[in-house]
Amino acid sequence: MNKNTVTLTNNRNGKSYEFDILDATVGPSVINISTLYKETGMFTYDEGYTSTASCKSDITYIDGGAGKLMYRGYDISYLSKEKTFLDTAYLLLNGELPTEDELGAFSFEMQKRSFVHEGVKKLFDAFPDRAHPMAILSAGVSALSTFYYKHLDITSPQEYKEMSNRIVAKIPTLAALSYRYSNGLPIIYPDMDKGFTENFLCMLRGYPHEYVELKEIEIKALDTIFTLHADHEQNASTTAVRNLASTNAHPYAAISAGIGALWGRSHGGANESVIRQLEMIGTVDRVDEFIAKAKDKNDPFRLMGFGHRVYKNFDPRATVLKNIRNELMDELCIDSELVEVANKIEQIALNDDYFISRGLYPNIDFYSGLILQALKIPKDMFAVIFVIGRTPGWIAQWSELNQQKTVKIARPRQLYIGPNDRTPEH
Ligand code: ACO
Repeated sequence: MNKNTVTLTNNRNGKSYEFDILDATVGPSVINISTLYKETGMFTYDEGYTSTASCKSDITYIDGGAGKLMYRGYDISYLSKEKTFLDTAYLLLNGELPTEDELGAFSFEMQKRSFVHEGVKKLFDAFPDRAHPMAILSAGVSALSTFYYKHLDITSPQEYKEMSNRIVAKIPTLAALSYRYSNGLPIIYPDMDKGFTENFLCMLRGYPHEYVELKEIEIKALDTIFTLHADHEQNASTTAVRNLASTNAHPYAAISAGIGALWGRSHGGANESVIRQLEMIGTVDRVDEFIAKAKDKNDPFRLMGFGHRVYKNFDPRATVLKNIRNELMDELCIDSELVEVANKIEQIALNDDYFISRGLYPNIDFYSGLILQALKIPKDMFAVIFVIGRTPGWIAQWSELNQQKTVKIARPRQLYIGPNDRTPEH
């Protein structure tokens, strides 16, 4: 018996087929079924791809049971404590952490490339007031492909670098512009003297000729949120980016598709829902009522920001953000009713058997929502913040797929359950 294969037997005809097992460096092995249809005439059925590896990748590894997340082999707790978001972006894009000189050069590159073509502003002018910033951002990124059409055919490592650096640098500017246009606010241009995260906060909050005073902890908190969102292997938006990459689409069209997928309420919108739910609960004396609703089997109500599909013991990103949230609240002296409501829910859930027995603990969205609220970032910008963090991951995944020797177009099959030929005789 070959230990590196799996045997599949079709009980309808008694035939057996062997498929190779491919081993991962760490984590589950996979069964290579790429010849399944040719050999058996059948497809596999796996709605939502819950058991399907769609690619080979050396970028990000998640161990949901152990609560572990690594980018290029580095644990996110190390990256978020010891490194900045720009280190992490460099790591994702280049495979290695930068040296001091490389980080300096990358940071300068980010500043230099942070301006967007003035033509983009004309496009933004056409959107109605109060247009959702995610819709504006998605359109803006797609529009960048008209300014940098040459990135459609990338042939050298230098061109990959230029394309990647350009989009990572411009995303914060486009994100801030999306907010300013949506709210009819004057535009603040990037400042060449400021670092990546500080610059974004100033473009978001500032006014012309007004100095935006930021505490170090505010910059650190947002920088950490960016780092913790930088990649999460083959989630829905990354899969959207990879699907477009497989068709040879323009990389910025692929990022725009990623933004569209992330905009979905089941994906990037969870931290916004956390704050909306806390506001709906409103006062500490109503918390018990909502905890009871969350535990009631006949009530569809769920506590937002609790539980996770992949992390079943704890969310390692939440552990990092909990500490930052505490530091931020102390330094900014934030003591609102909303924070009190959140603290009470957190305390009850961490000690209540219903939540403990089901592995329901606060996830990244519980803390990131509270942090973004404390940073005075409007709720409809929460998903936009996610986009800024995720862009290096998307581009790394786009590049990984494009640099393969052969690229197979993403084209799943289906189990057809509609009517057979109903065409009348003619
Ligand atoms: N509040 C109350 N009960 C919950 C919650 C919750 N937030 N989440 C799960 N449960 C209960 C379920 O009712 C179920 O109970 P049962 O075993 O008695 O039937 C049990 O816990 C398991 O729940 P599932 O839905 O099977 O867990 P699943 O892994 O499919 O869902 C999910 C994970 C979708 C995140 C869920 O926990 C949830 O809806 N959480 C609230 C929304 C949220 O915070 N989403 C953000 C996730 S983080 C991210 O996407 C980046």
